[in-house]
Amino acid sequence: MTSDTSVTVRVPAKVNVQLAVGGARPDGFHDLANVFLAVGLYDEVTVSEADAFELTCTGPGSGQVPLDRTNLAARAAYALAARHGLGEPTIRIHIAKDIPVAGGMAGGSADAAGALVACDALWGTNASREELLDICAELGSDVPFSLVGGAALGTGRGEKLELLDVGGEFWWVFAAADGGLSTPAVYREFDRLSPDAPDPVAAPALLEALRTGDVEALAATVTNDLQPAALSLFPSLKDTLDAGTSAGALAALVSGSGPTTAFLAADEASARRVAAGLAEAGVCRTARVASSPAPGATLL
Ligand code: C5P
Repeated sequence: MTSDTSVTVRVPAKVNVQLAVGGARPDGFHDLANVFLAVGLYDEVTVSEADAFELTCTGPGSGQVPLDRTNLAARAAYALAARHGLGEPTIRIHIAKDIPVAGGMAGGSADAAGALVACDALWGTNASREELLDICAELGSDVPFSLVGGAALGTGRGEKLELLDVGGEFWWVFAAADGGLSTPAVYREFDRLSPDAPDPVAAPALLEALRTGDVEALAATVTNDLQPAALSLFPSLKDTLDAGTSAGALAALVSGSGPTTAFLAADEASARRVAAGLAEAGVCRTARVASSPAPGATLL
């Protein structure tokens, strides 16, 4: 028998305004200086009581989302249940996708953070923020940030967060590509292209641009060390970046490990013009306008 008790959590996508990547560590991960900014594109994760574990997903690209226990959202539910001695979770997790799938916008991480917060509420486990962040860090490098949202500097493999102040609203266009890129493959290509990467450091000018809400200064300082690797594996992204710049974007970069590309615009009207320019140039699957910062995982 299923009960009608259910909890829905909204979770944001992210863009990396700086992604500084060091050399490969002995554990295979890379040390990062990763400046995350949550953006207003959201997945919604609903968890309800069920007879057995079940996972469903709807929305653009949902056909590519694994529906078994390898899904990060499932792993989040199992991890919380295990920590609290609850045994096998008998729940249905439903993911309503709006964040581009396999796009370098942390959609899978967002779903994990959403499922964790939803299960905690549904089961009344009342995990502390610290415990939730701990579970998030076990699940993946980007998951803790999906929980907190806003803006943060991630160090270590990206999971150690220092919250950042953001002094204004920034407008973005995100161009989803046809096809995906595997994050490990992009890091491997990074290693091939940059065998002597220096230790990653957050750029003071970029942190200051965020703090003051200065879009021109942010545009002048955004960087992504994974971009050459993503372009090497997915060369047509260069045409997308160029089309966004021609349409008036102040900055154009690959989002995370790609293949979504991100365009920083002067304001909302400019973002809409950039989105229209990208659509007209036929260089992406969809172009979405969103503002930042956005809140982290939020119970609805
Ligand atoms: O932590 P997460 O599961 O998101 O990482 C996915 C993959 O991305 C890792 O298996 C690794 O290949 C790569 N990665 C990395 N260094 C990081 C984060 C991710 O090499 N700091």
